[in-house]
Amino acid sequence: MTGLEMRPEFLKLRDSEIRAVWQMGFTIPDVVGLWVGESDISTPDFICDAATRAMKEGKTFYTHQRGIPELRQALIEYHQMLYNVTLTDDRIAVTSAGMNAIMAIVQSLVSPGDNVIGVSPVWPNIFRCVEIMGGSTREVPLEPGQNGWFLDIEKLFAATDHRTRVIYLATPGNPTGWVINDSDRRALLDFARKRNIAIIADEVYNRLIYNCLASPSFLEIAEPDDPLFVVNSFSKTWCMTGWRLGWMIMPRNVSTQMERLIGFNTSGAQPFLQEAAIVAIREGEEWVRQWVDRCRQGRVFVLERLRNMNRVSVIPSEASFYLMLRIEEMGDSIEFCKKMVEEAKIGLAPGAAFGKGGENFLRLCYAQSELKLAKGMDRLQNFLGN
Ligand SMILES: Cc1ncc(COP(=O)(O)O)c(C=O)c1O
Repeated sequence: MTGLEMRPEFLKLRDSEIRAVWQMGFTIPDVVGLWVGESDISTPDFICDAATRAMKEGKTFYTHQRGIPELRQALIEYHQMLYNVTLTDDRIAVTSAGMNAIMAIVQSLVSPGDNVIGVSPVWPNIFRCVEIMGGSTREVPLEPGQNGWFLDIEKLFAATDHRTRVIYLATPGNPTGWVINDSDRRALLDFARKRNIAIIADEVYNRLIYNCLASPSFLEIAEPDDPLFVVNSFSKTWCMTGWRLGWMIMPRNVSTQMERLIGFNTSGAQPFLQEAAIVAIREGEEWVRQWVDRCRQGRVFVLERLRNMNRVSVIPSEASFYLMLRIEEMGDSIEFCKKMVEEAKIGLAPGAAFGKGGENFLRLCYAQSELKLAKGMDRLQNFLGN
């Protein structure tokens, strides 16, 4: 470091453990990587073509900080189609992906000394945002069971205090695939209303669900002025992780300030990408159906293989594109993952990266070709000695 005095929150930032293991793979050829939250297929042509067209048409200038009006309109129609809800334009902000939406929301809510509760195992980035703002984090772990993950909602409520500003939950969850049930969803919204605590409902995996069109959303039960922020993204639904494009739905009365905050973070998302996002929404449903179907097949294939392996047990889930598995006598999940990469060239994410409740698990992303999954499963099986 230079002699500059940097903020302690900045100096304390640490890398995510997923990255630490994943980076090992950069130097080892022929690793089967099932560690990162994305597919091996790139964005479909009809979306890429729309971006190229828009760029060539000169959609290359600064634009609306809350997103171009046509994309906001397309998002209104999209939510109407999925959830039969009518959103007003002022509640929508297009962002530079889900990550940027989460950061902006946390910037708008969290001051030093505040705390944020997260349902865990949890995607770690949200907690890093809170720490950057000088807040602290608390986890309420889901409990793993034969039939999936279970939230004790009373424990979640009991974890709050007078400095709690936000309850964060991803539903469907990363890494668990857990989906909040209807009564907990309603109880949580009631609690947040009474206590004036914001809910950040991270719904970026809402289309990756295998028994319906979209996972239940907080938008279906909320009023426009409720303390609710819903985060979503183009990354997972349309395989656009590298594009960095997402959106948030916010309470009506914060819209003007949020628009300014986005302006001072990014000046708004790229207009040619937003033009392509409209095409993704309006013309992409058939493609999404096929993509979800591919993930469904990957899930079935991997589950079948894992269930036939000694020492392995899996917590079932009906959503996301992850599975959490436990391996007998695994020990520390980070060390285990490193050893697996080095010795068997198979990459999984260590559960410890996702906080309490994740430590005894490994996360596997099955959004990959069957060929790759088969190779990965063969290597895992060999590594486990069965
Ligand atoms: C739960 C969750 N939320 C948000 C994101 C952010 O996605 P993006 O920034 O690509 O939109 C991710 C990415 O893995 C995620 O798993």
